[in-house]
Amino acid sequence: MTPEMLALARKNAAKLGARNVEFRKGTIEELPLEDGSVDIVISNCVINLSPDKPKVFREAFRVLRPGGRLVVSDIVLEKALPPKLKADPGLYAACIAGALLRKDYLKAVREAGFKKLELLSDHFYAPGAASVTLLALKPRA
Ligand SMILES: C[S@@+](CC[C@H](N)C(=O)[O-])C[C@H]1O[C@@H](n2cnc3c(N)ncnc32)[C@H](O)[C@@H]1O
Repeated sequence: MTPEMLALARKNAAKLGARNVEFRKGTIEELPLEDGSVDIVISNCVINLSPDKPKVFREAFRVLRPGGRLVVSDIVLEKALPPKLKADPGLYAACIAGALLRKDYLKAVREAGFKKLELLSDHFYAPGAASVTLLALKPRA
């Protein structure tokens, strides 16, 4: 998302001698990728920070090829946060204040077009919040 992140990623790839990776600048709401061009979308603890999560899932669906997989780890809430906590920037940065309710998160994934949702892991993260890993498929046709 930022030039600093790209510079660090490229430096680390060079250090490792990794030649089969490519880093592109963009946001998860507008991926710099062609329609149907990737096999898998992975993400760890980023989507809760997006101001438009349904758009993120629509975008992941767009770039995946038919039969492609979405595997995301993220924070979900079990119950709505009080307004004061919801507005707390520290809690937003801690991946809690921006998180969706679990049911709304799964709804947004389904509404983007994904099928066969499966929770691969589901752990306590903080009171009222869970860390989940979700697998979902883009149908073949
Ligand atoms: C909690 S960190 C997780 C980083 C990494 N995925 C990991 O597992 O170590 C959240 C990252 O999401 C990035 N981020 C936040 N909003 C984003 C957006 N809209 N598009 C792309 N990246 C975003 C932040 O810059 C930060 O690097």
